[in-house]
Amino acid sequence: MCASPSALPYDDRDGFIWMNGKMIPWRDAKTHVLTHGLHYGGSVFEGERVYDGQIFKLTEHSERLIFSGKCLDMDVPFSAKELNDASYEVIKANNITNGYVRPLAYRGAEQMGVSAKGTKVHVAIACWEWPKYFFPKAGDAAGLALRTASWRRPDPKTMPTQAKACGVYMIGTLAKHEAENNGYDDALMLDFRGRVAESSGANLFAIRDGVIYTPIADCFLNGITRQTVMKLARDMGYTVEETVIMPEDMKTFEEVFLTGTAAEIAPVSKIDTDITYTIGPVTTRLKEAYSDLVRQKAKAA
Ligand SMILES: Cc1ncc(COP(=O)(O)O)c(C=O)c1O
Repeated sequence: MCASPSALPYDDRDGFIWMNGKMIPWRDAKTHVLTHGLHYGGSVFEGERVYDGQIFKLTEHSERLIFSGKCLDMDVPFSAKELNDASYEVIKANNITNGYVRPLAYRGAEQMGVSAKGTKVHVAIACWEWPKYFFPKAGDAAGLALRTASWRRPDPKTMPTQAKACGVYMIGTLAKHEAENNGYDDALMLDFRGRVAESSGANLFAIRDGVIYTPIADCFLNGITRQTVMKLARDMGYTVEETVIMPEDMKTFEEVFLTGTAAEIAPVSKIDTDITYTIGPVTTRLKEAYSDLVRQKAKAA
């Protein structure tokens, strides 16, 4: 489950959402049903975390939103600096000091049909408190149970796999539903070649004999947290290798964890019915170091 069970519907909350340069009341942040982005998948988004009033890696996220738009032949009509400023305006307007920011860029309702050349690109930024992304069924102390999905990450020639594009998430949602329907927390997704890729919404790391391995991000999102954790681990003296990991390799690791902006560092306890892990020393040290890093940055800012 990804949302706290008590969460209110996202369209029925108090607060403000930044839309196309204006701060508007939350419930008025609407779009028409004939919006092109809704019909043909012309939309990209970001997910950012706020720690003690500072948005971690904000410029990287704003730049990725613009990059994701470009991957869809869609020019986001704001600069990274303008998106950064708007993100701070929105957290201020909603009085969020620890939470999550969600920028979205999508094609408007000016045109129908597959071509989108006549559409305008709209941008909205919302934020809310989102203390936890994962609620492992076995409890936080145990970690996440993953189920190998029948759905796979596609060939980069099939989809713009490096873009954080809404349409790409259709596969993640199917994989996650399959996992949840079978009593698991999330999906372990393989790629089109049958290699281990990531989960439905976070990157994957695995540890053997003190060495940290992570799949090569050549057909799925090269997460900002993934890059941060690789650097952090190397700075802490660990060897980190980006490598090919096959499903049968998963039983050779001692620890496994997921990384993502929303998920942060989330330990994995189980894959399918036959592989189990404990939350080991490397995961624990990295979790602590990541938690310090995101807040140190906040203090220094
Ligand atoms: C499919 C997928 N992979 C990886 C990630 C991790 O990316 P990041 O660390 O930039 O949040 C996310 C989260 O946004 C995701 O949705």
